[in-house]
Amino acid sequence: MQLSRRALLRSGAIVAGLSLAPRVALAQSDRIESLIGRMTLAEKAGQLSCFSDLLRAPGIVFNPGAASGNTAEQLANLRAGKFGMLFNGTGVAGARTMQRMALEETRLGIPLIFAADVIHGLRTIFPIPLAEAGSFDPDLAERTARGAALESTATGIHWTFAPMVDVARDQRWGRVAEGSGEDTCLGQAMAAARVRGFQGTDLRDPTRMLACPKHFAAYGAVAAGMDYNSVDISMEMLREVHLPPFQSSFAAGALTTMSAFNDINGVPSTANRWLLTDLLRGEWAFKGLVVSDWTADEELIAHGYAADGRDAAKKAFLAGVDMSMSSNLYNLHLPALVEAGEVPVAAVDASVRRVLQLKDSIGLFDNPYRSMNAKAERTQIASPALRKLSREAGAKSIVLLRNDGALLPLKASPGRIALIGPFGDDRDNVAGAWAFMADKTIGVDLATGIRAKLANPKMLDVVKGSDVEAALPGGIDAAVAAARAADVVLLAIGETQAMSGEAQSRVAIVIPPAQQALVEAVAATGKPLIILLRHGRALALSGAVKDAPAIVATWFLGSEMGNAVADVLFGTVNPSAKLPVSFPRESGQEPYYYNHKTTGRPASGTPNEEYKARYRETTNEALYPFGHGLSYTSFALSALQMPATVPASGTLTVSATLTNSGKVSGTEVVQLYIHDRVASRTRPVRELKRFERVTLAPGATKQVRFDLTTADLQFWADDKWISEPGAFDIWIGTSSVGGLQGSVALTA
Ligand code: GLC
Repeated sequence: MQLSRRALLRSGAIVAGLSLAPRVALAQSDRIESLIGRMTLAEKAGQLSCFSDLLRAPGIVFNPGAASGNTAEQLANLRAGKFGMLFNGTGVAGARTMQRMALEETRLGIPLIFAADVIHGLRTIFPIPLAEAGSFDPDLAERTARGAALESTATGIHWTFAPMVDVARDQRWGRVAEGSGEDTCLGQAMAAARVRGFQGTDLRDPTRMLACPKHFAAYGAVAAGMDYNSVDISMEMLREVHLPPFQSSFAAGALTTMSAFNDINGVPSTANRWLLTDLLRGEWAFKGLVVSDWTADEELIAHGYAADGRDAAKKAFLAGVDMSMSSNLYNLHLPALVEAGEVPVAAVDASVRRVLQLKDSIGLFDNPYRSMNAKAERTQIASPALRKLSREAGAKSIVLLRNDGALLPLKASPGRIALIGPFGDDRDNVAGAWAFMADKTIGVDLATGIRAKLANPKMLDVVKGSDVEAALPGGIDAAVAAARAADVVLLAIGETQAMSGEAQSRVAIVIPPAQQALVEAVAATGKPLIILLRHGRALALSGAVKDAPAIVATWFLGSEMGNAVADVLFGTVNPSAKLPVSFPRESGQEPYYYNHKTTGRPASGTPNEEYKARYRETTNEALYPFGHGLSYTSFALSALQMPATVPASGTLTVSATLTNSGKVSGTEVVQLYIHDRVASRTRPVRELKRFERVTLAPGATKQVRFDLTTADLQFWADDKWISEPGAFDIWIGTSSVGGLQGSVALTA
């Protein structure tokens, strides 16, 4: 049975082994060739440069140290053709003004293209990508990306610097929040879905925008989870873990990518010719555009890889970076490098061609005011439909980690509720990282969401109890008093969004001590606690937080956070999400991930085992494993079926029956894992290869069936993908732990 590529992409059935060739190419055109023929070297360098938009809101220049000038200077540079793209500005009026200037006040009238960091929504914010990945619902991700494109193109944006597809296995890294977590298969499915959502099938549709899978490559593997740190990595790890989400993004149609800050084995990604040219354009036949990350070319100097700006520009350009972001190095040095014969003009023309083709691919030469429609700006932003979608996505991203005694869902009239903690009625931290263009007036805090569910809103007491990282005078006493007077105690604790995202690595992924003390004090009242975590990464829970009978991972869910959490707390929505990242027992276990190797001395889990791969202080099992998540109903798996053998050229069909053995409808995420028992390279103890969300009414059953090919059983060795005959363990389960286990022998 031939499954369509789209079906494979949707169900997470992404084949890592096959090179997923890019789906679309850029169009050739005489108009572009004639333009290139008329451009001066300076004008070519200008098209290969981009800057933060200083003319439009938010107009906040990130990395202020590298900001280039001010509004007047930027307008002068526009007229002089010093840039081909601006980013992180919004607003139709400003876009139209600048586009008219580009068309009428520059020598060649080349239209500008406008980009922005629309990572999980523009004004209406959706859950952070990490949270949304927990839905294991690529269709949902496609819909929220589509929603983000609707709002972005309504404000004059043509191109988003998203999806962020970095696989992240170390939760100390703040940018875990922006990606899809620790697993490659899940990451591939979500990356492809987001590209499809942003781009649609017609790039000339003014409500669609270009995607930009980033950061190419292996940024998620920074040493010790410290942002911008070095990456030392084997080719096998690069190929099997970090590169496939880029391949899936290109296969889904992405036409741009962004080179990363980090080095790879001593060669910075932004000057890495093997990565940006030999692999990307050679082996993968990528025809799109490479834009550097912010001043990543200039940072080659700090890396000790370039002697000065001229050397950095030369090395970045010759490695394969088409467009330089924010450093201005291409304007400053490319023309002279060409005149000195150090950079071939043909290579410059090739990069300029890609920029012009990219602009042409979205119709800017025929319709330069594309996505600059004042009516759309009035009607397409923060619409009820988008807010409804944000609420749906939020509820589908919530992971019910623990629910002892079925404390949840709350009854319609649960008595007096004490909502305690710094995030009880906080609206400043519902969006998460990379939501600087959010419409803050539409954010829904927890208290508002919960009150909306109560027949008598006065039955909700909100007590802060502590600040995020500092105690509040009298805070704990007030919280304890509120807990004593309550029938239900909710603890809204965790991280602020400023503790998550870029340049926010943490040495300990814990609940800040001031909040931990608050929870300990409230727990001492003996009231049953329901913990509501606010976070952009996995956390190492301890003490009364860890021991609470009910624990809910609520991440940063975006504009509708309060309503989404309330929908789950009161059972309007039955939680269905699963962890996209493992929760360790201790921060010191990071990097921590489920698909690890066995080692030669695997610990059995028996306490204090001698001479085994384990820590003195803790066992190796996750506190809450990748793929874990509870429901208000219960599910059972049975009747695992698979053949005893599968030929290398065959299709391996594995099936099992899922039953809703509980009392309410619910959705389970059925997951298929493999383990190659013996191979010529050590293999992970488990690898997710398929997943599917299945919704069942109480008592209903469904046979879930997955088809694998040899490509799913391959690994990278000796510079190629190989599969070897031998036995494979196969699980169908509802988490990366347990499940129904069988085995199959791959025959030669
Ligand atoms: C930032 C980020 C990158 C972003 C770019 C433009 O430093 O690394 O993800 O797209 O700069 O804002």
